[in-house]
Amino acid sequence: MKVLVIGPGGREHAIVRSLLADPYVSEVHAAPGNAGIAQVVPVHSIDASDPAAVTALAERLASDLVVIGPEAPLAAGVADALASAGIPVFGPSRAAAQLEASKAFAKQVMAAANVPTAMARVAVSAAEAAEALDTFGAPYVVKDDGLAAGKGVVVTSSRDEALAHAQTCFDAGGSVVIEEFLDGPEVSLFVLSDGHNVLPLAPAQDFKRIYDDDAGPNTGGMGAYSPLEWAPAGLVEEVIERVAQPTIDEMAHRGAPFTGVLYCGLALTSRGVRVVEFNARFGDPETQAVLARLKTPLGGLLMAAAKGELDRINDLAWSRQTAVAVVLASANYPDTPRTGDRVRGLKKASALEGVHVLHAGTSLSEEGKVVSSGGRVLAVVGLGDDLVEARSKAYDGVGLLDLEGGQFRTDIGLKAARGEVFGSASKEA
Ligand code: AMP
Ligand code: GLY
Repeated sequence: MKVLVIGPGGREHAIVRSLLADPYVSEVHAAPGNAGIAQVVPVHSIDASDPAAVTALAERLASDLVVIGPEAPLAAGVADALASAGIPVFGPSRAAAQLEASKAFAKQVMAAANVPTAMARVAVSAAEAAEALDTFGAPYVVKDDGLAAGKGVVVTSSRDEALAHAQTCFDAGGSVVIEEFLDGPEVSLFVLSDGHNVLPLAPAQDFKRIYDDDAGPNTGGMGAYSPLEWAPAGLVEEVIERVAQPTIDEMAHRGAPFTGVLYCGLALTSRGVRVVEFNARFGDPETQAVLARLKTPLGGLLMAAAKGELDRINDLAWSRQTAVAVVLASANYPDTPRTGDRVRGLKKASALEGVHVLHAGTSLSEEGKVVSSGGRVLAVVGLGDDLVEARSKAYDGVGLLDLEGGQFRTDIGLKAARGEVFGSASKEA
């Protein structure tokens, strides 16, 4: 089977790596990829969000399957174009990707499917925003109602800051969703779907804020680990039953069946599981941790989802080890990241036992050296017999890397390793 992977980041590098380990996959190509992906498979520099360009490339390569990594090509209708050309595609249609592209749409679907989520109101003016903020009270949650790469959400105890974020979204011609605050730890669960059947992967936890102890602004994600030893028994079954299957059924009912991966962003609150957000794609960097443990060949799984045959897949096989992914980000991320900085130590870090390095925002300089080209530059993945060992492997790898102005969190998986996940944030503890 020949597979084409669309996207430029760490998630796509992880997908490419797993596809290369699949005995049924004969050839992998990527577009546009990055410097690390280009070391392992041929890359093609096209606009990943141009449906005609992606379809033409897949036809030229005679790809049997196209896997779409990021949200932007999905929202641009790349999956629709591939499907019209008769090419199997892992990734939802533009209509189904609305589950991520519009937070207001996602709320409507959840309401129709009776999926537990935060109470929310849409606001299109300062007066509406103020009323909604006062209805729910502090802490305030204000979300840009559009794609914002995980950075359009402000959670704050300051009413002025909440109003200011809403105003920024209105000024840009948008609207906001204002929500009640959800307490408790967050879990990311990826659920594969072929439009009707669902199949969950292992849960992961992501670290969204830029600094240790969840301080500073939200990012796309600074690190992740999987599995979650502390997760309540039956969590995955509950999420399938109350969240994923009803959502997939509702989308099919609306004539927009969802094929691909439904990313369920969950909060385990004192009042039970609530959906924080849906995404229409794999999470980044959770994928780097989750796929590091998946033993079932990935190509066959994604093809089964693309072809509506997920019911043929039996239980998935997982490594007993724990995986931790630590992101190395560039100076000034998540604001305007500085790019063009040399990355050193890649070979040394990758040579460590139980460690691999996945590229995200990297490219080659004119001299052929790896330099930063985006906000999140690398993810170092450590595998160990438990979370303590996996963390230590990942951080050994990070310690060998050198990126001027580089930023990373030192506490990925730390609370869980200390048994402190259900901490003061949760009333249940
Ligand atoms: P989103 O883009 O909707 O996933 O939001 C980004 C991050 O903001 C989430 O991962 C949470 O950490 C936080 N967040 C979003 N919605 C809420 C909420 N209702 N209550 C508390 N935190 C939230
Ligand atoms: N890590 C969060 C996301 O992929 O949206």
